[in-house]
Amino acid sequence: MKKVLVTRGIFPEILAGLARRFEVEGNPDDRPWLPEELARRLEGKSGAMATVMDRFDEAILARCPDLKVISNIAVGYNNIDVPACTKRGIRVTNTPGVLDDTTADLTWSLLMAAARRIAEADAYVRRGDWKIAFGVQYFLGQDLHHATLGIIGMGRIGQAVARRARGFDMRVLYNNRSRLDAGTENALGAAYVKRDELLAQSDFVVVMAPYSPATHHLIGAAEIAKMKPTAILVNSARGGVVDDAALVDALKAGRIAGAGLDVFEGEPKLHPEYAKLSNVVLTPHIGSASRATRLVMCTTAAANMIAVLEGREPQDPVN
Ligand code: DGY
Repeated sequence: MKKVLVTRGIFPEILAGLARRFEVEGNPDDRPWLPEELARRLEGKSGAMATVMDRFDEAILARCPDLKVISNIAVGYNNIDVPACTKRGIRVTNTPGVLDDTTADLTWSLLMAAARRIAEADAYVRRGDWKIAFGVQYFLGQDLHHATLGIIGMGRIGQAVARRARGFDMRVLYNNRSRLDAGTENALGAAYVKRDELLAQSDFVVVMAPYSPATHHLIGAAEIAKMKPTAILVNSARGGVVDDAALVDALKAGRIAGAGLDVFEGEPKLHPEYAKLSNVVLTPHIGSASRATRLVMCTTAAANMIAVLEGREPQDPVN
């Protein structure tokens, strides 16, 4: 029987399905493994179901000659050295498509929470600071409706974010490596503009680009300086696409009005200043975290791993 490793705690029904086919080592404590432990546990394994927290670099791959497939429970796969896997004949798979709407929903949650200062207001009420029932100038925020939304990275999730803007009668601008076809642009009601124009014109800037060396600090001090002082920045894509130090400086100086962040450089570590700022809403990388979607992601990842180990083409190959 082939052996497989599941690096984090997942749904028992998925583990049970895998156990009918393979000898499965799971991680019931859901404790993230350091590279040394991951390498040790991978010994003798043909497959691994992994998350974005598990780094598969050359050093790790060199220690698992039996490995045939790494099935990421994620759409992103910047945790995996894909060329190194290809060289070693290891297939890499991901879970595209199944989390677009859920991640777009979370992106909107951050947008709305930052625009209407929900976290700040919630903390105020809980602290017992709410002494006078109504104030004309309490927690004044920003309107989403009829504002301009700029989306940087117009893949599937970016498009799902754009579709939701309709309900708010927003003007939607986007920038992407390649322009969408006219039919898709029309259906989304989104206009392609250069990145600088998007930054200058948008009331809300959503970053939806995957992380790669090319998108490292795609939004840094220079880009933030081009945004409106009333603008709100949302990143629910990947840590590192936004330069956290530059964003902290901008939020502290009031160069932009606020931010909503689900992902961070070096997470779970946070830039120490974020937690002190009231004009940023912070969530712990939960973009795709609805029960239904995480279950589909795990089911998809399991099916991809099974396909490779049974000699079939996986549904979602990366290499
Ligand atoms: C993804 O799917 O890439 C999410 O960030 C979860 O890891």
